[in-house]
Amino acid sequence: MPKFEFSSASPAEVSADLLILPVFEGPEAGPGVAETGKALEADLVAMYRENSFRGRFGDTLTVPTFGKLPARTVLLVGLGRRKEATSDTLRRAIGKVARTASRFASVATTLPQAAGKPADAVQATVEGLLLGSYRFDRYKSRNGDATPDRAALESVTIVGAGRWEAREVRDAIRRAEILSESVAWARDLVNTPAGDATPDFLAKEATRMAKETGLDVKIWSKSDLEKGGFGGVLGVGQGSENPPRLIEITYAGGRKADPPIALTGKGITFDSGGLSIKDAKGMEWMKADMGGAAAVLAAMRAIALLKPRVNVIAAIPSSENLPSGTALRPGDVLHHRGGKTSEVLNTDAEGRLILADALAYLTEKEPRAILDMATLTGACMIALGEDIWGAMGNDRALIRDVIAAGNAVGEPGWELPLWKRYREKIDSTVADVKNIGDRWGGAITAALFLNEFVGDTPWVHMDVAGTAYWEKAGDYWPKGATGSPARTVVRYVLDQAEKGRVARAKARAKSAAAKAEAAGAAGAAGTEG
Ligand code: BES
Ligand code: ZN
Ligand code: MN
Repeated sequence: MPKFEFSSASPAEVSADLLILPVFEGPEAGPGVAETGKALEADLVAMYRENSFRGRFGDTLTVPTFGKLPARTVLLVGLGRRKEATSDTLRRAIGKVARTASRFASVATTLPQAAGKPADAVQATVEGLLLGSYRFDRYKSRNGDATPDRAALESVTIVGAGRWEAREVRDAIRRAEILSESVAWARDLVNTPAGDATPDFLAKEATRMAKETGLDVKIWSKSDLEKGGFGGVLGVGQGSENPPRLIEITYAGGRKADPPIALTGKGITFDSGGLSIKDAKGMEWMKADMGGAAAVLAAMRAIALLKPRVNVIAAIPSSENLPSGTALRPGDVLHHRGGKTSEVLNTDAEGRLILADALAYLTEKEPRAILDMATLTGACMIALGEDIWGAMGNDRALIRDVIAAGNAVGEPGWELPLWKRYREKIDSTVADVKNIGDRWGGAITAALFLNEFVGDTPWVHMDVAGTAYWEKAGDYWPKGATGSPARTVVRYVLDQAEKGRVARAKARAKSAAAKAEAAGAAGAAGTEG
């Protein structure tokens, strides 16, 4: 990882192999463009226009500096309209050029001055650069013809305004580094072929991470799951040679009595559909069916390192869904943790079956909220596309807070209704519930299935089938795993910790005021008497 520095010097004085400067639509010079142009004795905005660039988002122009500047090359990057630019625009804009940037040894940029509050802008810029230069080349051989390009980037100078607090900037850089490393790890887990990334592999990766970051971890083996009554996790995994696991991780950042925030994520390491088998095309991306699990693991890693004052518990079920002589059959009935039963009419609706056990288990911990994330339904992907995850749940405030967290980090979600009248679609004649509805409203019937297992606990389900894995490159990720919605979850947890801090401070102020008033009254009584 490159070393990040903060400078409030003029960009015309900063030495770097590559100086990245923003241009708004118009084109209109962004921060640092005028000073740099002056030192170069060139009108950079005019040059931009001459190349028929208007500063639209994603336009770029490279300008050599011929020794007139300490920076050797200038890269002008279009941000789109100034009024519409947010910190997420910065994340995306630098993400798009991150791969180019990582071929230079040193990079400087004024980008964080272009939008948003300093801390948010710095964090988003650093995230965009780090996440955008992510590559998955572990399976490329040295003598393959597409030799992976080596990352050369060693140092990055964040050029801020003079009045910016160096400490605030350093903290923002550190947050961005932690989040980016965590997300990169989630992407690695998702991109790793299912032949290697088995439930046991996920459990071992989680254990290693927990040891490194000081988290408590418990891995439930197949026999532990049998003793614990996790019929869904076991049933889905029974067709595979690779036995299922449940990964339980706890983070104790709050007081002992504080109820935890509970997290779970779908950890199907490969979804063939089981006996209700998918076609070849439908299976192409199904190594990514543990994207929800990977996001929870990444979030726990980031939480362990950022140390918010809250308690968090994660229980991640992981199975491999394969057809075989021992596989689950359509018509089989599963006994879930907590005692409810489900009739499996389609073995390809398996995510809800393993999540049911995890949700029931988490309710036993009496958490303040449960968040689940899952590549659950093609229906959600069809409805919302690849940018937006679907949110459904039983608690208005929780859904609102989780969607707000997503918007704050550039991972938007949108609420779909947990429409109770569709509950009858999943009525079973032999068990408590069946695992498929009819043809319509598939994202909703899946959520209604999960709803059966959360009781009265505030709960939100995030269907990330569209967002967790992309068949083309995005602004700050290559084709493949995105890491969504890990940053949303971390943001939600940090927001909750901040709310707790504010509430505690208010309570303290109130009790201090009450004490002062009591003392004052006693004093007044004293003088009177
Ligand atoms: N993992 C899939 C959902 C999925 C499909 C995610 C495509 C990403 C891309 C899930 O297990 C599944 O197969 N769902 C079925 C449910 C159906 C059988 C009720 C679906 O969506 O078709
Ligand atoms: Zn699946
Ligand atoms: Mn499936």
